[in-house]
Amino acid sequence: MKHTPVKVLLQATSIGNMATVKGWVRTKRGNKNVAFIAINDGSIIHNLQCVVDPSQYDEELLKRIGTGACVSATGIIVASQGSGQATEMQVTALELYGEADAETYPLQKKGHTLEFLREIAHLRPRTNTFGAVLRVRHHMAFAINKFFNDQGFFYLHTPIITGSDAEGAGEMFRVSTLNAKNPPLNDDGTINYKEDFFGKETNLTVSGQLEGELGAMALGKIYTFGPTFRAENSNTPRHLAEFWMIEPEVAFNELEDNMNLAEDMLKYLIAYALEHCYDDIEFLNNLYDKELIARLQSVLANPFKRMTYTEAIEVLIPNIGKFEFPVEWGTDLQKEHENFLVSHFGGPVILTDYPKHIKAFYMKQNDDGKTVRAMDVLFPWIGEIIGGSQREENHEKLLTRMNEMNIPEHDLWWYLETRKFGTCPHAGFGLGFERLILFVTGMSNIRDVIPFPRTPKNAEF
Ligand code: 4AD
Ligand code: MG
Repeated sequence: MKHTPVKVLLQATSIGNMATVKGWVRTKRGNKNVAFIAINDGSIIHNLQCVVDPSQYDEELLKRIGTGACVSATGIIVASQGSGQATEMQVTALELYGEADAETYPLQKKGHTLEFLREIAHLRPRTNTFGAVLRVRHHMAFAINKFFNDQGFFYLHTPIITGSDAEGAGEMFRVSTLNAKNPPLNDDGTINYKEDFFGKETNLTVSGQLEGELGAMALGKIYTFGPTFRAENSNTPRHLAEFWMIEPEVAFNELEDNMNLAEDMLKYLIAYALEHCYDDIEFLNNLYDKELIARLQSVLANPFKRMTYTEAIEVLIPNIGKFEFPVEWGTDLQKEHENFLVSHFGGPVILTDYPKHIKAFYMKQNDDGKTVRAMDVLFPWIGEIIGGSQREENHEKLLTRMNEMNIPEHDLWWYLETRKFGTCPHAGFGLGFERLILFVTGMSNIRDVIPFPRTPKNAEF
């Protein structure tokens, strides 16, 4: 039979309708005369209270309908007697799809730790917390596509298997069908990738940017939104080995335009979340982080602080005593330095013009010979949420920089050709999707904002 989402049944407009609800039992309580079964179907954080007259049903059946069971209930929707919900169902028919053994079902109790829930990632979507996070994640993915579509960007699907290292950091997962125990060898003992599936060494991509640039230099404005993989051994609450990245790339944009696009996009997404996911965000605010909603609103209310890396160093140096790691012009900023800047300026900070030796080969070189047109967006709670730059569009300068940094030219001949044939100024950035979700949900560990996290020594589920 056709069934109706709890989200719809909870609206006062459903009162008086006969309906069927299908979902999972969160709680059952009551006595000999009446039973209350709270059903959640994932459509909304709230449950539908189903009121059952026990005398109408087999006692055995009612016993088997406990926490975690999957049921179908049919009845009339009435205005709720109890407080806390507008409607409830007076049940006239009950069907049990699958019971959940009370002895072994891990989600019997309320208030499991997030660490414990990570070990049962196959069941944690059934908790209020993960229901909320996963709904927010969906709405953010949708809003990203909407934001770019409304502005005339095209969604470009860049490859996941690649022969090049876009960031030049060498943190890649190899893709191979060669026999790992006994691979074909060259005369010098190295592995002969000519015999591999693609006839060359291939890896999972760390970024869709390089192919994104090819798209932008034809379609004008593109974005990518896909999974990316990094084999960096960082066991932190902000790193995943498999994460999703959004990478817009725009022909004729310079650094200033790039900053404007990043700020507009982030504000759009946060406003969208507050508008479309308020119930879920409010739940997370109350349970985990009482400042979440205020923090989201404050990011919307103020312009992001913009400054160069060099100016930031001048702010950091007088405070050097507060830091664990040293900081001077030329060092890569640590998380503690980024956090300091964000709290010092009371909100998001965009840093630009970093020293060239700590940034990737493709960034546009400034005339000072020392810095590049890089841009990182630093967020409260998160640290770096976006990394991007204006790109080096001059063929000779790009090639020289690649050689200086030992980036193999023969792997990237196609990238270099865009600088030979109709090159133009262009810029783009990468937004870490899970870091955005961390910010919007107030969760503190990145493992809790992706359904099935991949981190060092962890690829269960
Ligand atoms: O700063 P990154 O490395 O920049 C790039 O990949 C560029 N190709 C982007 C571009 O210009 N098109 O990564 C971009 C963002 C980071 O700011 C961070 O939010 C996220 O991706 N990120 C990660 N998120 C989770 N786990 C990891 N291991 C991440 N590494 C980067
Ligand atoms: Mg970065």
